[in-house]
Amino acid sequence: MPNSNAATNCIVNPKKVAPAAAIIFGATGDLTHRKIVPAFYHLAKNGLLPDGFVIMGFARRPKSDDEFRKDLKEALDKFSHTKPIDEDVWAKLSQHIYYFQGDLPDAESYRKLNEKLKGLPEASIIQGNYLFYLATSPNYFNIVAQNLSEAGLATGSPDQMRRLIVEKPFGEDLASAKELNKSLQAAFPEKNIFRIDHYLGKETVQNLLYFRFANSIYEPLWNRRYIDHVQITVAEKVGVEGRGGYYDTAGASRDMLQNHLFQLLTITAMEPPASLDAESIRDEKVKVLKSIPTPRPEELAKSAVRAQYGGGFIDKKAINAYRQEEKVSPNSLTETYVAVRFEIDNWRWAGVPFYLRTGKALTKQFTEINIVFNRPPSVLFAAAGEAHLRRNSLRIRIQPNEGITVNFNAKTPSKSAAQLVDMKFTYQGGFTDYLPEAYERLIIDALVGESTLFTRSDETEEAWRLVDAVHAAWDLQTVENLPLYACGSMGPVESDLLLERDGRHWVSPKD
Ligand code: BG6
Repeated sequence: MPNSNAATNCIVNPKKVAPAAAIIFGATGDLTHRKIVPAFYHLAKNGLLPDGFVIMGFARRPKSDDEFRKDLKEALDKFSHTKPIDEDVWAKLSQHIYYFQGDLPDAESYRKLNEKLKGLPEASIIQGNYLFYLATSPNYFNIVAQNLSEAGLATGSPDQMRRLIVEKPFGEDLASAKELNKSLQAAFPEKNIFRIDHYLGKETVQNLLYFRFANSIYEPLWNRRYIDHVQITVAEKVGVEGRGGYYDTAGASRDMLQNHLFQLLTITAMEPPASLDAESIRDEKVKVLKSIPTPRPEELAKSAVRAQYGGGFIDKKAINAYRQEEKVSPNSLTETYVAVRFEIDNWRWAGVPFYLRTGKALTKQFTEINIVFNRPPSVLFAAAGEAHLRRNSLRIRIQPNEGITVNFNAKTPSKSAAQLVDMKFTYQGGFTDYLPEAYERLIIDALVGESTLFTRSDETEEAWRLVDAVHAAWDLQTVENLPLYACGSMGPVESDLLLERDGRHWVSPKD
């Protein structure tokens, strides 16, 4: 029977947002400035927030409401993805922005926060509906949840909203993720916990579900009979950009592979869900992860490549070697690049390798999924010199220059030779609609209680199981240095060898 939630699923249309207060912990931090405030502004601009919607910043520094509003306006001017700022929209929104000076570990602060919320001029409109947003450093996640619970803020009456958005990183390994899940779930029921992976908020990632399940062309081919292998690349041009303190404890495997790359993998590989409701979709994603057996260390010694960027130039700008970055240990063995080969042991995918790679300080910023099909038989064209026709592939460009390209062999005019040519769809050419930023989609979904685009506890844990296995294999290797790759390159030679050993190569980006 179709699920009754399907009609209100985020992928179709958001429900109407109830008047509420969003309480941001870490309100003076970078994430609030870069992503959260611009997202709220755009939601207001697009008429998606109800009148009197409150934003309350919680942080330690003393600040008045007006000073806080001024800081946020400066951040908005700097980071908004649309310009100029609509001053009327901001003026209306900012009237309902407040600041609360509190200490994250201090239980008393939360009792005072509760009083402050109850005494707001908008209290009769928002009626105790609260969305708590954990944009703090991760070591505060559990203490804030616990304090909210002890102050009676985590649960309200049955018709009140009490939800928790949790930023990444969600733990640093399987054990800490389990611990964190346990303490968050002791404060909030799982259905009210919204774990962010901002890749799921990207329109192009959501479109994967449409591409696969709203068309009849590709799904019959989407399996081991027709697909040779799959490549998923998240390449970044930026280095660690002042985040050395955090990054040196995480590295590419924890910062990107555990979350963003595995999300792309699960949506690419999942079975069609029973319906579009959150649990059906997340059940299918978890099944994919569960079908990846924990690889043995001997296998991973060959199939998991790590490396670090050396110094160099990108766009004529000098970039320090990773070990010279601020707050990075000069002997650091943290990887800024990782490439791994996994296999999904299920009926659809048995024997089809999935190659995942991500790195910083590379030549180009792009996120792409490449589906590479089996080689066509060359019997007809071998005599004409085409002993090895090239494989068809499907290039799903997540960002930038969002789009989908399929290629096929065509006859080169005036020659008896095949050449791969492209059929291309671009978002820019195909749509004129507003393309929202990931955080806009995610915040609105949390406000209406739609969990599809958030990661469930078991999903995070399964992904950590695989990342832990990679680390366990690396920990067995005694090394003093990691392989280096030049800034502005596409990564270390070891990553190319990973595919070459299997007779394959990374598909190069075209734009
Ligand atoms: C974040 C990582 O989750 O994603 C960053 O912590 C990374 O290191 C960023 O730069 C990439 O996101 P996007 O949306 O720019 O691809």
